[in-house]
Amino acid sequence: MSDHKTMTLTLIVWRQKNANDPGKFETYAAKNITEHHSFLEMLDCVNEDLILAGKEPIVFDHDCREGICGMCSQVINGAPHGGQERTTVCQLHMRKFKDGDTIYIEPWRARAFPIIKDLIVDRSALDKIQQAGGYTSCHTGGIADGNAILIPKPIADEAMDAAECIQCGACVAGCPNGAAMLFTGAKVSQLALLPQGKVEAKQRVRSMTQAMADCGFGNCTNHYECQASCPKGINVKFIARMNREFLKAQFG
Ligand code: SF4
Ligand code: FES
Repeated sequence: MSDHKTMTLTLIVWRQKNANDPGKFETYAAKNITEHHSFLEMLDCVNEDLILAGKEPIVFDHDCREGICGMCSQVINGAPHGGQERTTVCQLHMRKFKDGDTIYIEPWRARAFPIIKDLIVDRSALDKIQQAGGYTSCHTGGIADGNAILIPKPIADEAMDAAECIQCGACVAGCPNGAAMLFTGAKVSQLALLPQGKVEAKQRVRSMTQAMADCGFGNCTNHYECQASCPKGINVKFIARMNREFLKAQFG
């Protein structure tokens, strides 16, 4: 049961009307917040106050609010998704903060993710990478056929680990180079590990890495910030796997 203790916090939030607006930080008070509020519910409360005062609410992305869709893209106090291990913004709770705290909230910042408004960025560049080859077009049969293909458990587990990527883009936001190597590595590996994905593996890795370069993402220089920022624990070993797949496609 709630003990009804409430907090008042100071929010310093990035406000930007559109991609061409220079944008600036603005300060707001988040009042009557309990430790049971989620971070997004706290923003909902602030927005209700703004609307009641006749001001424009803070625009932010969200959908599932349970860590599945990858929409909630905010840098909180300098860390994508707030820096709590394996936690998306929507899974972050106000119990992580204390009364009187000041919280900085910014959108993903990367050349490939132009700001649409306030905290919303255009992440369609990730869709372009996915569309370039993140699928299988060969006939794989029905569910029963799929289940009949024997796949060693360690391989199936590794493919499942890669498939946990929710396409949020935190890895890009966390990387000083704005690279999408962790995202692309996860998507390439997820399919390359499985028999159904091997048929088009060479073409896939070539197309997806080309799309990655075309979309303006930077290159990996082994900072590992992507792995540290990822709310799903995607491991940098998938970048190494993608690099091996690429070399096999070029010279294998
Ligand atoms: S690899 Fe992690 S941080 Fe990057 S898009 Fe996927 S889930 Fe998000
Ligand atoms: S709103 Fe869906 S992952 Fe956060």
